[in-house]
Amino acid sequence: MKIAIMGAMVEEVDPFLGDIEHEPLLKFFKKHNEVVYAGNTYHEAKYKDLDIVLAYSKIGKVFSALTASTMLEHFGCDMLLFTGVAGAVSPDLKIGDLIVATELCQHDLDITAFGHPFGYVPEGKVYVKSDNRLLSIAREVANEKEIELKGGVIATGDQFIADNERKEWIAKTFNADAIEMEGASVAVVCDAMEVPFFVLRAISDSADMEATFDFDEFLKESAKVSSSFIMAMLDKISDKWSK
Ligand code: ADE
Repeated sequence: MKIAIMGAMVEEVDPFLGDIEHEPLLKFFKKHNEVVYAGNTYHEAKYKDLDIVLAYSKIGKVFSALTASTMLEHFGCDMLLFTGVAGAVSPDLKIGDLIVATELCQHDLDITAFGHPFGYVPEGKVYVKSDNRLLSIAREVANEKEIELKGGVIATGDQFIADNERKEWIAKTFNADAIEMEGASVAVVCDAMEVPFFVLRAISDSADMEATFDFDEFLKESAKVSSSFIMAMLDKISDKWSK
């Protein structure tokens, strides 16, 4: 089993490479191999019986689609786990909380001029669903570790949202719980290639007037919350997936 672990920003994958909280993974990644391909660095390594390919894509839908495609097509990954931070849309989500996407959509995709709904293009779909087996593994991990894990709709777009009106529009139009800038593009790639995927985000801000300040303040801390959970997922996947 070869697993892609990806984030968008260096801060989102750094905990896997250098954080003492991740001692087992740190040790294992010390023996890792770095490959530069199409403008990004990919870290190849082994964890237990799993082969891992780890990379950050750079921000946005285009870069993240490129990295996801590269991980599946060039590196041959059979599964993709996305880790990172998001802005809260649901009032239930506070900074540091975890949300896993049950479905993802693109809030900035707009050909409504032709009578289509927001987020839809012909032969596409508004919502892409995450892999059910990975969602149930995530719930098991959350229960065992007594971590609160919300499931919900993540809306993706090439915009950092720091505006209540835009946030409310996304909430109302897509029934979204959180917003970020890569999840749905990664989901589209994995769905098209029939590769199971999972998008996990820890909240860094509330996509409001304070969002830029909060994002800078909480990016690293929230990225660690998400990457720690992914580590626990790896243990569970190693125990369960192929058995
Ligand atoms: N990622 C984290 N916070 C975000 C926000 N407010 N808008 C878009 N992407 C984000």
